[in-house]
Order: sequence, then structure tokens, then C-alpha cells
Amino acid sequence: MQNAENRGGADAAALRGSRILLVIAGGIAAYKCLDLIRRLRENGAHVRCILTRAGAEFVTPLSVETLAGQTVHTDTLALTAESEIAHIRLGQQADIVVVAPATADIMAKMAHGIADDLATSTLIAADKPTLLAPAMNTRMWQHPATARNRARLEADGVAVVGPNDGPLAEGESGPGRMAEVPEIVAAIADVLAARSGSLAGLRVLITSGPTYEPIDPVRFLGNRSSGKQGHAIAAACAEAGADVLLVSGPTAEAAPEGVETVRIETAEEMLAACEQGLPADVAICAAAVSDWRAAAPQDQKIKKPRRGEGQSDGAPTLELTENPDILATLSAPGPKRPRLVVGFAAETEDVEANAAAKLTAKGCDWILANRVAEGAVFGDDGNVIHLLTRAEGGGAPAVEQWPRMSKAEVAARLVQRIVEALSSDAETA
Ligand SMILES: Cc1cc2nc3c(=O)[nH]c(=O)nc-3n(C[C@H](O)[C@H](O)[C@H](O)COP(=O)(O)O)c2cc1C
Repeated sequence: MQNAENRGGADAAALRGSRILLVIAGGIAAYKCLDLIRRLRENGAHVRCILTRAGAEFVTPLSVETLAGQTVHTDTLALTAESEIAHIRLGQQADIVVVAPATADIMAKMAHGIADDLATSTLIAADKPTLLAPAMNTRMWQHPATARNRARLEADGVAVVGPNDGPLAEGESGPGRMAEVPEIVAAIADVLAARSGSLAGLRVLITSGPTYEPIDPVRFLGNRSSGKQGHAIAAACAEAGADVLLVSGPTAEAAPEGVETVRIETAEEMLAACEQGLPADVAICAAAVSDWRAAAPQDQKIKKPRRGEGQSDGAPTLELTENPDILATLSAPGPKRPRLVVGFAAETEDVEANAAAKLTAKGCDWILANRVAEGAVFGDDGNVIHLLTRAEGGGAPAVEQWPRMSKAEVAARLVQRIVEALSSDAETA
């Protein structure tokens, strides 16, 4: 199983020569940042650091400076010419801004655009991708204010890695533990790899959202898919330079910038739009396509019989028929098959076993499986993914477990995997 620990080469490629601005805020997990700096530098990254005033209570500027090999910027509002421009310059000179640990406080300030010190002024002035590694007590993490702030930041395009579930400093256990250093390194590499240009020249077809299957002119069969994950993938692929066609079912998500978006309602319309969109180098089927549709949708609204019309049971019987299987159709061998076909599986139980069965049944190359439980996944801003990769020669698929991350971060990591897969294809061709 490949996990954040053993992705070595892929991370090194994305990190080599990159410029990382690390904001260390005032949480107990700040000590882990010393190891984070060391790992990033081992991978060839240049690391500059800002320590918040509270951060400097947890790790010393001297330790940070020694490991980073650069002057550390501490949070002072002393208005020297240097500090006055630092908040603009530090962001401009970075490829990515990472906040680790991201405290409840700094997340709240970021979500509300507060800029009352060097760290928060830099964060609001930075026009670079931003990644947060939250770390806090479970109750702080689960507080509605923190949940609102996280959702706001993710909606603003900020990537989030972790937090994990596990033992916390206060002797408690639960969600709030900062992602482990290898997981943060992997998340940084994903965001860097998804930067402009890595999918340039490639056409990517993406499906997103639910399908609505009419029963009559006012009723339909549908599902709870929000389209957030598929739309985030479309945005990440476009950001990485791909020519993207997004075929979307009904969703409240706006069409991502720079993406050709075709809106459809039914599975049959989705399949037709996908087939028209071919050829494509990559197809990513993130839509939750209804397996069935009404066999005979009615032209007029089906009426409830009025009392006294002599019928004992007014409930009509709905006959269903199977919808076309879009993932299996796109995966079928032939001249138009994309080089890489990726499906999603939303499972309520036995996630890996069911996803492995789906990989075989559909003939696609990868499945991103996630667990749908108690309303999680659909509409949620975060996702926990198991990536199953079809084994050459038909063996058991390789499984990679990703830590909990935002849907934007899932999209960034998927883009990195696609870039790696297509470039190793090209090397062996
Ligand atoms: C011993 C101690 C440990 C703390 N650990 C955390 C933590 O893990 N996460 C967090 O969000 N806040 C934590 N706090 C609270 C923050 O330090 C406090 O909110 C501070 O204002 C954060 O400032 P900053 O976000 O500018 O770094 C801790 C406070 C103390 C005294």
C-alpha cells in the first residue's frame, strides 16, 4: 500500500526548487514544524518562516532559523521599512503558503480577512495557493465557529490537510491532531504539482453532480450529490493547464473559471454529452449517476385520486429501467478510450472490497472510493479517499489511503497522480 510515507520520489519532484512560506502559529504541535522544515529542505525546497507571537512561545526563533537556514520573520508590528513591505514580499516570493499548525485563532482571522499582525497580513496579501494543517483540541475543532471558518476557507480555495483523529496533548483523544509530517509534505507536493502547466496540452473530461430522472413534469428520481468534488477536480485540472470539459448534473456549484461546462439532467443526456466530448486523454467520472430511471415518464403530472373516486389505494406503481453505465461505456476498449479512466465509488460499507469489485466490473483504471455515512461525503466540504489502482496483469489493486482533506486538496492530489501516471506512461512508451 502506498501512503504519505513512501511517495518519496513523487514528492521530491514537486518540491525540488520550490519556495515555501511556512507560518507557524501558536499551538502545541508547533514543535513538529521543526521536523517539517527539515523534511522539506531534504526534498530540495527553500523554506522561509513566519512565527506568530504565540508561535514563538512554543518554538524558538533560533531553532526555526537554524533549521530553515534563513532569517525567521517574527510577528512584530514595529514599523520599520523592512516589516512594512515584508507582508507583501514574503507572499510574492513564495510558491505556496503553508500554515502549520493552523490554530483556531488564525483560521478565524483568515476566514474573516483580519490582518492584525505580520502572519495574517501576509496571508491576506498572498496570491499563492494556501494550505492549512489545523491542530487543536477536539472541542475547538468541533465548535460550530471553527467548522464555519473551515468551510469558508475551503470555499475560498484554501486547501486543508487533516486534522487526524488520535491522542491529543491534553490526554484526550479525538479529531484535532495535526496531520503527520509526511502527510503535510505530501499535501504540499500535491498543491505544487497542480500548479499551472502540468496538464498542459491534455484534454480532460469530467462528470459531476447528480442526475435527475423524470417521473413526470414535476417529479424526478435523484440523489444528494452536490457536485462539489467533481467541480473542484475540474477547477484543479484547468488550473493545471488542461483543456477541461465538465458535464454537470443539476447542482448549485458555479461553473469553474476556464472550464467548458455542459449542463444536463438525465443519465442519457450525460452519456451523450460525454460521447460528444471525446476524444479525451483522461476521463474522470465523479457524477453520481442514477442507476435507474422511470420506464415510462408521464407527460402530465400524475394526479393523486380525489376522495370518493372509488380507488382504495391511490399510490401509483413506478416501474424502473436501468440507465446506461457511463463509467463502463467510457472504459470499454476501443480507439476512443481515454488513456486514463477514473471512477468514484460512494460506499456505505466494505469500502475497499466494494471499490475493488467496481474497478473490475467497470474496466476503469482507478477508483477513488469514499465512505458515505450519516450524510457525510455528499455536500460535505471534506473527503477521505481510498485510491485503488488496477494492477497490471490482473492482480489485486494497489490501495492508497489519503488522510481526511478538503475536496480541493483531493482534487490537487488527483491532478498530481494523473501527471505522474501519464508521464511514466510516456517514459515507458
Ligand atoms: C499551552 C497552550 C496550548 C495551545 N494549543 C493550541 C492548539 O493546539 N491549537 C489552537 O488552536 N490553539 C492553541 N492554543 C491557543 C492559542 O495559542 C491562542 O489562540 C493564540 O492566540 C493563537 O495565536 P496565533 O493564532 O496568532 O498563533 C494554546 C494555548 C496554550 C496556552
